[in-house]
Amino acid sequence: MTSTPTSIAPEAVITATALTLSLGTGEAKVEILRGIDLAVTRGETLALLGPSGSGKSSLLAILSGLERASGGALMVAGADFTALDEDGLAAARRGRIGIVLQAFHLLPTMTALENVATPLELAGQLDAMARAEAELVAVGLGHRLHHYPAQLSGGEQQRVAIARALAPQPAILFADEPTGNLDHATGEAVADLLFARAADAGATFIMVTHDEALAARCGRIVRLADGQIASDVRA
Ligand SMILES: Nc1ncnc2c1ncn2[C@@H]1O[C@H](COP(=O)(O)OP(=O)(O)OP(=O)(O)O)[C@@H](O)[C@H]1O
Ligand SMILES: [Mg+2]
Repeated sequence: MTSTPTSIAPEAVITATALTLSLGTGEAKVEILRGIDLAVTRGETLALLGPSGSGKSSLLAILSGLERASGGALMVAGADFTALDEDGLAAARRGRIGIVLQAFHLLPTMTALENVATPLELAGQLDAMARAEAELVAVGLGHRLHHYPAQLSGGEQQRVAIARALAPQPAILFADEPTGNLDHATGEAVADLLFARAADAGATFIMVTHDEALAARCGRIVRLADGQIASDVRA
C-alpha cells in the first residue's frame, strides 16, 4: 500500500494530471482551471502564488477535496479523488488532509478545546480530548482551552484552527491566505507556527499566499496565471 521505509525514491503525495475546473454552462461557462499538472512530494513546502482570480483558491479546494474537478486525474495520499463520491471524498479527507482558511471557521458555540476535539471524536479517536489539549498547548494556547472563539483574538483563533487542522495528523496541510485577516506581526507569528507545526508533524505543506516573503520560505513556488501554471520553481 505504501512504500517501504527504506525506499529512497521521493514519494508523491499529490499527483494531479490535466485538472480542469469549469463552472456554468453554455454562454455562461467559465474555465477557471485549464489543465493543471502538478506532482508534490512528501514533506515538500509549496507556495501557490498568482494574481487575484488566477485560480489559487479553486486549485486548493480541489487538491484538498473540498471541491471536485471537472476533468483530469487526482491522487492524494493514495486516494483517487476523481473516483470518489461526496461521502467517499469526506472520508478520504479525514486523517489525510488538514485545512486552514483565511477566515478561521471555528464553531462559535464550542470552546477552543471542543473545536479541536470534535473532529477527532467524529473520527472515532478515543483520546480526543487529550490529543486536542496537547495540540492546543503546542500552538501556545494551553491557557485558552475553555475560551469560546468570540473571546479569542484573531491570531488566537487562527492558532485554534491550526491545532484543529493538525490534530488528526494529516499527511498534507493546506492553507489559503492563512495570515490574510491578521495584522503583520500576528501574521508573522502564525506563519512561523504553521511552518514549525507542519514540519514537526512531517506534513506536506501547501499554502496560497499573496505575500512574496512568506512564499520565499517555502521550498517550492508555483505561480498560477489565468487558470494555468505559469512557473514552478524549487529553491
Ligand atoms: N462559484 C463560482 N462561480 C463562478 N465563478 C467562480 C466561482 N468561484 C470562483 N470563480 C471564479 O474563478 C476564478 C478563480 O477564482 P479563485 O477564487 O480560485 O481565485 P484566487 O486566485 O484564489 O483569487 P484571490 O487571490 O482573489 O483569492 C475567478 O475568476 C472567480 O471569479
Ligand atoms: Mg483566493
